[in-house]
Amino acid sequence: MKKLRIGFLASHNGSNMQAIIDAIKKGELDAEPAVVISNNSNAYALERAKKEGIPAYHISSKHFETEEQLDQEILNTLIKHNVNIVCLAGYMKKIGPKVLAHFKNRVLNIHPALLPKFGGKGMFGRYVHEAVLKAGEKQSGCTVHIVDEHYDHGKILGQRVVPVLAEDTVETLSQKVLEEEHKLYPEVLQKIANGEIELD
Ligand code: GAR
Repeated sequence: MKKLRIGFLASHNGSNMQAIIDAIKKGELDAEPAVVISNNSNAYALERAKKEGIPAYHISSKHFETEEQLDQEILNTLIKHNVNIVCLAGYMKKIGPKVLAHFKNRVLNIHPALLPKFGGKGMFGRYVHEAVLKAGEKQSGCTVHIVDEHYDHGKILGQRVVPVLAEDTVETLSQKVLEEEHKLYPEVLQKIANGEIELD
């Protein structure tokens, strides 16, 4: 397999993106960060990209008349930077059909729960942890999966588990899960890079 060239899509902080970049810099992940795209001009992920010297773009639906044009622009940007794998890292928008078709089985996402539980439309960020606590789950965690046309639905590539304690709040649980996310995403990518995980 060719060296992974990662295109990141991130809406906010981008700490998962940073964890992947750091793993590359430490030599733990054999890949290259190629480009960062955000729908949010204020996303800290764009700042991180600039600090790391990675090309960064703000591409928002506000710039286009149709969702199709937005989808095409995102695809053009990924192609322009020779991306061969796309990592959603806290990207809060649905990926369009053109990007999904071009990068079939090559768009990954990280979700802050043990899918197939606690996924689907509206299940993101703190809502996920609220639902886990409300359901009285004894464990939670994170999942890296392939993105398809349904929310949080594609093939699961890896998971990490954390215990849910009686005293946990949304804040403590999300922090614990996020720490595991930062380990899981680079681990899964390295398994793809060395052929341990096949995407097709
Ligand atoms: C992460 O917890 C990620 O799992 C979650 O958003 C956070 C982004 O953090 N994603 C979702 O909920 C997607 N359904 P980050 O911007 O610091 O990487």
